[in-house]
Amino acid sequence: MPNRDEKILVVGACGQIGVELTLQLRKIHGEGVVIASDLREEHPLLKGTGPYVSLDIMNKETFHVLVLRYNITQVYLLAAILSATGEKNPTLAWHINMQSLLNVLEVAKEENLAKIYWPSSIAVFGPNSPKDNTPQHTIIEPSTVYGISKYAGERWCEYYFNRYKIDVRGLRYPGLISYKSQPGGGTTDYAIEIFHDALSSGQYTSFLKEDTYLPMMYMPDAIRATIELMEADASKITIRSSYNIGAMSFSPGEIAAEIKKHVPEFSINYKPDSRQNIADSWPKNIDDSDAKNDWGWKPEFGIERMTEDMLRNLQK
Ligand SMILES: NC(=O)c1ccc[n+]([C@@H]2O[C@H](COP(=O)([O-])OP(=O)(O)OC[C@H]3O[C@@H](n4cnc5c(N)ncnc54)[C@H](O)[C@@H]3O)[C@@H](O)[C@H]2O)c1
Repeated sequence: MPNRDEKILVVGACGQIGVELTLQLRKIHGEGVVIASDLREEHPLLKGTGPYVSLDIMNKETFHVLVLRYNITQVYLLAAILSATGEKNPTLAWHINMQSLLNVLEVAKEENLAKIYWPSSIAVFGPNSPKDNTPQHTIIEPSTVYGISKYAGERWCEYYFNRYKIDVRGLRYPGLISYKSQPGGGTTDYAIEIFHDALSSGQYTSFLKEDTYLPMMYMPDAIRATIELMEADASKITIRSSYNIGAMSFSPGEIAAEIKKHVPEFSINYKPDSRQNIADSWPKNIDDSDAKNDWGWKPEFGIERMTEDMLRNLQK
């Protein structure tokens, strides 16, 4: 239910998740309630839908002033360097992913903000984690700088909840598939590129091997999960680091076969690059029973429905 006293700031609003999350939050709470912000220029899909401010979240003072000026009560922090981009510049990825979170948590503490959302990722799991039905609590030894920063971030979120009673919530997103905004440099980006190439040229060269299974989710499910988690009664949230969350798992070979049902001339070949190593360290599918039990998580899209919907929307 919309709460008229809330004022929500989305940081990183022009990214793959930010655009759709901002639009949905504005639908629920009203356009004036949700302030979009990013380093980049305003995304075309956000134009005319509500307030937009330019913000570098690495600058704590500017962020703090913005929180005061707009009477912000909730922050969704989506700015980050993703897995594949992170491996190109590990110290920068660590710096941005950690400092942005600490800036938000510190201002949340100083200004007593009502709620913070910060997403983690399946990248927290590493080669020694179980690959099938990966549990919420298990061996967590990430081997990418992105995964290391996400795991450290989870610990900070739990720390600020325990020590300062900040209402921080998070999800370990799997690879997210969407058509509205471009992906931001992750290892699962192939699952978006493949749709664009299938429709434009009927051919796709995958940077992951044919049988590489990874956990995936369609964006409408991811946005709904995020908002359901944030709207859940605080007493139901038993995990303050970040929840495992799942929907489907497939390989490049499987998604290609699914696309071929709609685009019969489509063909795929495989040319694995350095992203294969990242994918090999991640789970195949995720045990999300805590999310199901605590706040009623239930995915709606599997591979068939997602493929149909992606192709229909990209053809428009
Ligand atoms: N997309 C996925 O598949 C996926 C999967 C798991 C986790 N996540 C997490 O979800 C969050 C959002 O991911 P996304 O896919 O939307 O990423 P993205 O790269 O598409 O978007 C991130 C946005 O943050 C902005 N940004 C970067 N540095 C900034 C700064 N200093 N100040 C302000 N804005 C800045 C970028 O301009 C960009 O618009 C990230 O934390 C990411 O790690 C995403």
